[in-house]
Amino acid sequence: MREVAVLGIGQTRVDEHWDKSLRELAGEAVLAAMDDAHLSAVDAIYVGNMMSGSANKQQHLGAYIADWVGMRYAEGLRIEAACGSGAAAFRSALMAVASGALDSAVAVGVEKMTDSPGAEITAELATAADADYEAGQGLSFVALNALIMRRYMFEYGWKKEDFAPFSINAHANGVHNPCARFHEPLDEKGYARAPMVADPINLMDASPMGDGAAAALIVPVERLYRQPGVPLVKVAGSAAATDTIAIHDRRDPLWLMAAERSARLAYAQAGVGPEDIDVFELHDAFSIMAALSLEAAGFAARGQGPHLALDGEIRPTGRVPIATRGGLKARGHPVGATGMYQIVEVVQQLRGDCGETQVPGAKIGMAQNIGGSGSNIVAHIFTVD
Ligand code: COA
Repeated sequence: MREVAVLGIGQTRVDEHWDKSLRELAGEAVLAAMDDAHLSAVDAIYVGNMMSGSANKQQHLGAYIADWVGMRYAEGLRIEAACGSGAAAFRSALMAVASGALDSAVAVGVEKMTDSPGAEITAELATAADADYEAGQGLSFVALNALIMRRYMFEYGWKKEDFAPFSINAHANGVHNPCARFHEPLDEKGYARAPMVADPINLMDASPMGDGAAAALIVPVERLYRQPGVPLVKVAGSAAATDTIAIHDRRDPLWLMAAERSARLAYAQAGVGPEDIDVFELHDAFSIMAALSLEAAGFAARGQGPHLALDGEIRPTGRVPIATRGGLKARGHPVGATGMYQIVEVVQQLRGDCGETQVPGAKIGMAQNIGGSGSNIVAHIFTVD
């Protein structure tokens, strides 16, 4: 396999973009990535998306986006892995370029959720769960995560307020990210006052719906014209794993086996361990998912994830910085785009472009994107020269 570098990145703000279509959002991110890479064409475009067929009445996103950005004859495909679609698209592009099949590719994640009523999108999101035994019984994703969080609190003795620092850190970091959905800081009082959505998950434990797109352009390092002085971000590890689609089929519903496996495989490829990761963009769709991700990826012992948050270790200056650009909680979670936002944000950190929330001296970063309630997970590790 060839060594691959991320040559360009681009993203839109996550927001309610009622004035922009799906292709306009994706196009903005792709063209920004191409501009950043100083390239005017690529061999292929891989589009990560979950729900365009139902929410936007548009399928066939490979040709749709390639046509819109002026790459009419490039290869174009849509990749779907629920909320993990973004990183799955990046991994598909990576496999094509690393194998030598292609010499350049753009991966873009795009989702447009806010044109439809919230209840319709909630039902659509639930199609990523088991239709017969979960969604069919009325369980939404918030409800599924509430069941996991309730069980976690019972097993390990945590109180609801122990999860507040996850949301407070995410909102504090989102303030400084112009592409984040929310720019308001949050404190303990604001967390405690937040309306309950599905007990014990309140509004501040949940990621918001939103519209947005993020993209990265990749090329093999061997073909690269290296500009002196420009930090070169390389892909050091990439792995994906699945788990049962329904939570009740898991031997341990409080352990993200696919997160453990994808992280372990990516660490082995990169020749690093969790102790070497300077920044970790994890999938904090709900605060309980942040705790479980920290544990499964090897940063905390089983049941102990909230300690890192309570001790301030998840802040940009802490031992395991997470959600450094706001995370899913404050940057937002346009589901099929999220994995690409995480990758763009890790690249920004390794380039040293994160201003107030820059992780000092960041050299190795990991992004881990979760589809479903832990049933399809993709991990990437990046390094900088
Ligand atoms: N955090 C903070 N504020 C939020 C928010 C969130 N997660 N979600 C919505 N808001 C804000 C909105 O900005 C809006 O503020 P405004 O009145 O100042 O404009 C207000 O709350 C009401 O927004 P609305 O869209 O009507 O909220 P809602 O009650 O319909 O939806 C949730 C709230 C939590 C139910 C919804 O965001 C949700 O379902 N999130 C989870 C999505 C999900 O499951 N994703 C997949 C995960 S795997």
